[in-house]
Amino acid sequence: MNKTAIITGITGQDGSYLAEYLLSKEYNVIGLHRRSSINNCERVNHLSYYDNFSLEEFDLTDPSDCSQILEKYQPDELYNLAAMSHVGTSFNQPSTTFEINTIGIINLLEGIRHRSSHTKFYQASTSEMFGKNYSIDPNGEKYQDEDTPLIPQSPYAVSKLSSHRMLQIYREAYGLYACSGILFNHESPRRGENFVTRKITKYIGRLVNNKISKSTKLKLGNIIASRDWGHAKDFVQGMHLMLDNDIADDYVLCTGQTHTVQDFLDLAFKIAGFNYKDHIEIDPELYRPAEVNYLKGRCDKAKKALGWIHHTSFEELVNEMVISDIRLLS
Ligand code: NAP
Ligand code: GDD
Repeated sequence: MNKTAIITGITGQDGSYLAEYLLSKEYNVIGLHRRSSINNCERVNHLSYYDNFSLEEFDLTDPSDCSQILEKYQPDELYNLAAMSHVGTSFNQPSTTFEINTIGIINLLEGIRHRSSHTKFYQASTSEMFGKNYSIDPNGEKYQDEDTPLIPQSPYAVSKLSSHRMLQIYREAYGLYACSGILFNHESPRRGENFVTRKITKYIGRLVNNKISKSTKLKLGNIIASRDWGHAKDFVQGMHLMLDNDIADDYVLCTGQTHTVQDFLDLAFKIAGFNYKDHIEIDPELYRPAEVNYLKGRCDKAKKALGWIHHTSFEELVNEMVISDIRLLS
C-alpha cells in the first residue's frame, strides 16, 4: 500500500519540492496551508493533477487542528516545514515567531503522542541555531556539525532551538520516531523574495528586462556574511532519507562550502553581464540587530548513515536562479 505523508508549510519553497519528491515515490501527499484571503498555493498549483495530492486548510498554532489532522489521516510520515522563517522579521515579531515555531511543534508532537503514535516526524531545524559558534579542525578550518554547541543569535534561532530540544525530549521520553534536520541555507528559483539570494536575482531579472532604471539601486544590508548555500531540491531528499530509516536521529545537511553575500552578488551579476558594484547600495536599516556571520557545515554523519550528498554546486544554483528570474520577469 502507498504511504501517506503530511507536509506543513506546503505553500513554501521546501514544501513544494518535498511534495514533488514524495509524489515521485508514489506517496499520498496531503499539503497543509493556512487560510489566506487570496490563493497563495502557486508553488504547488502544478501538482493539482495528481490524484494522490490534496490540500487542506490548517493552522499550526491551533492545537485542536493539529490533533484532528493526525486523527483523520494517521499518516506514515509528517514533515513540519511550516514556520515564521525570516530571521530579520523575527526581531520585530518575536512572540509570533515563538507561537508558530515553538508552540506549533508542541501541538504536533502532542497530536502524534495521543492520536497517531506510529507517525514518523521530521522537524525543520536550522544552521541558524549555531549562531556565532563554530568548531575548529586541526588545520584551523572553521565549521559546524552535530557536535558544535548551539548558541542562537536571533528570536528565530532561539524558537527553533526550543523546538529542536523539545523533539529530542519527545523522542527520548515517549519513544516517538522524530528527526531534526539541521539544514544550512538552501535556495532555488522558488525561494521567498525577501531572502537575500532571491532579492538579488529578482533585481537582476528586472534590470535585464528594463523593468527598472539603471539608477535604481538594490539596497542590501550586511554583504560580508558567509553562508553555506545549497539547492532546496537536494535537501528535501535528505529529509525523506531521515524518515525512511530504522533509527530516529538528528542530522546536519549542507554543502560544506561557504560563500559571502558579496560572492553571490559578484557571480549573479556577472552571469547577466553586469558589475554588482554599479548597482547596489548598502542600507544600514537592513543590518540585523545581531548577525550570524559565518556558516559552513560538515555533514559526514548524514553521508555515512543516510548516503545523502548534495548534487548542485554553488555556481549551478546561482546560474539557475538568475536565468529563472530573467525569464520570469521578461
Ligand atoms: P518558507 O518558504 O518561508 O515557507 C514557510 C511555510 O510555513 C509557508 O508555507 C507558510 O505559509 C507556512 N506557515 C507559516 N506560519 C504558519 C502557520 N501558523 N500555520 C501553517 N503554516 C504556516 O520556508 P522554506 O524556505 O520553505 O523553509 C521550510 C522550513 O525549513 C522552515 O521551517 C524554515 O524555518 C526551515 N529552514 C529553512 C532553510 C532554508 O534555507 N530554506 C534552512 C533551514 C531551515 P504562508 O504561505 O501562508 O506564509
Ligand atoms: N534577507 C536579507 N535581505 N538578507 C540580507 C540582506 C537583505 O537585504 N542584505 C544582507 N543580508 C544578509 C543577512 O544579514 C544574512 O547575513 C544573509 O544575508 C542571509 O540572509 P537571508 O537570505 O535572509 O537568510 P538567513 O541566513 O538569515 O536565514 C535563512 O537560512 C536559515 C538557515 O541558516 C532562512 O531560510 C532561515 O529560515 C534558515 O533557517
